[in-house]
Amino acid sequence: MTSLADAAHALANGYLVVFPTETVYGLGADGLSASAVAGIFRVKGRPAEHPVILHVATLEAAKSLTAGWSASAQQLAQAFWPGPLTLILKRAPHIPDAVTGGQETVGIRIPAHPVALALLNEFSRVGSGVIAAPSANRFGAVSPTRVRDVERDLGERLGPNDHILDGGHCAVGVESTIVDLTGVRPRILRPGGIDRDRLVKVMALEPQAGVSSPTITRPAPRVSGALQSHYAPNAKVVLLNPEEFDLGLQQLRTDHSVTSIGCLLIAPRKTNQRDPGTTFITMPSDAQRYAHELYARLHDLDQSGCQVILVERPPGSAAWEAIQDRLKRAAAERPSTHNPQ
Ligand code: TXA
Ligand code: MG
Repeated sequence: MTSLADAAHALANGYLVVFPTETVYGLGADGLSASAVAGIFRVKGRPAEHPVILHVATLEAAKSLTAGWSASAQQLAQAFWPGPLTLILKRAPHIPDAVTGGQETVGIRIPAHPVALALLNEFSRVGSGVIAAPSANRFGAVSPTRVRDVERDLGERLGPNDHILDGGHCAVGVESTIVDLTGVRPRILRPGGIDRDRLVKVMALEPQAGVSSPTITRPAPRVSGALQSHYAPNAKVVLLNPEEFDLGLQQLRTDHSVTSIGCLLIAPRKTNQRDPGTTFITMPSDAQRYAHELYARLHDLDQSGCQVILVERPPGSAAWEAIQDRLKRAAAERPSTHNPQ
């Protein structure tokens, strides 16, 4: 078993450490070392221009990574850190380009998982105390919320000096909400663990994408989670409205090339649940508990060899925004270049 001291020393020596956060597992490296960060990209198979988030333990450390800490940053950090919120701010000059993808901004968060905080504190004693970490999965694949999912996906790609810390099943289960604070008004770049309703209680946000506003002229920064097809399992994912579900399943069963189907349901239904080729999973009807389960269930269904996963579309309210977003991306057509090996 890896101790926190071993893990912190590994980071200080330029190696990788997979660690739990309250959202998903992160694939961490010393965030102030370009060569250590390059290791993340190698293991993930992620294109170099995609920026990674920096994790720190304290507000002081967060401020030191920026070229200007705004009043909005202070308010959001006070309200939600430690927690599943990433702030995009103007970068300090000493941050490697490998972290920011060459952009003038940097993503920062203080995670809430006790193991993540303990690792950051230990790494502050023996190194920079700044951990760059994307989710600990191959590029384009479903993020891991349990160590076994990390091991299956990345185990063979990690080196003998890299480490994995086990912190159980991540409580939140979807990635952090990313808020860009570099424009006139704060803007959500990726919905996540803190929902829109909670954010707007603290401050006004730029209107939601898709809601017409003549003032939105800034191009979106590069966010890998913004790719249409992302967070995708090996199985094909099909999203169905509740009223279409039974018919969709029936039709799929008539396709003899499909022998194994997984169903993620919101509510239990009367469909013949004894079909040997079909696995039915009734998901929690509460958004927080649904998010906690989602990636684990997708990994499990992939493991059981499902070719198609039918997902009953969850409600459209703010509490479900991150889940809706991840399901939509999991179900998106994959470009031919998307090859999670
Ligand atoms: O919950 C999370 O955020 C997890 C845990 C490990 O902290 N991390 C995570 O990292 O989801 P990753 O790399 O899988 O997704 C981070 C997203 C990417 O889409 C990246 O492009 C975006 O954050 N990002 C990072 N820095 C950015 C920046 N300066 N500007 C715009 N987007 C940025
Ligand atoms: Mg990711």
